[in-house]
Amino acid sequence: MIRDRLDGEGTGHDWWHVERVRRLALRIAKEEGANLVIVELGALLHDVADHKFHDGDETAGPNASREWLCRYGVDPEIVEAVVGIVQQVSFKGAGVPDRVSSLEGKVVQDADRLDALGAIGIARTFAYGGFRKQTLWDPDVPPVLHASFDAYKKSSSPTINHFYEKLLLLKDRMHTRTGKRLAEARHALMERFLEAFFAEWNGEC
Ligand code: ADP
Ligand code: NI
Repeated sequence: MIRDRLDGEGTGHDWWHVERVRRLALRIAKEEGANLVIVELGALLHDVADHKFHDGDETAGPNASREWLCRYGVDPEIVEAVVGIVQQVSFKGAGVPDRVSSLEGKVVQDADRLDALGAIGIARTFAYGGFRKQTLWDPDVPPVLHASFDAYKKSSSPTINHFYEKLLLLKDRMHTRTGKRLAEARHALMERFLEAFFAEWNGEC
């Protein structure tokens, strides 16, 4: 069902993103001693009806998840834990604090964010930028550290700005030890990419 819904999606939120998040989340969950059933279901459902593709509706994802879990007869306590993760997982702006409460939510959020970093993160960012028809970069448009989710949602700044508005901030917002360790290497790769991007932009290499 999840695969059918997301297969072929072209903005970097496709089935394979979900599969990578599931794999990473289970790896982190084992190291952190989190509940594997809740983590796996949370990872599978975390992007099932993202607000970005549902007119900003933040209840679409949690509602679709609850409906799906109930239809398959999942234990009500697990349903609530998973729906809580789907509600809380999304990044809402540089100045908006994260509010994931459970260990399982922290694990899924770390895994989702790791897939926004490194080589895959760079590829996804330009895929999304193309979908939104954003420019690559514009030296006259500085990055903004959004203070509210509303401001973050409405932003249509150049794609390079997304690195400064979100991606380079994620390393310091990881919750788990494993997440922090994996984020370091992916962060360093993005810094090298940006260095090369600007050097080429300026005709220096
Ligand atoms: P979250 O999973 O925390 O809700 P998003 O779904 O907003 O985060 O972002 C997932 C990925 O989509 C980002 O890491 C990035 O690759 C891409 N993305 C989201 N917003 C933008 C943007 N404004 N410009 C470029 N890429 C973006
Ligand atoms: Ni995601």
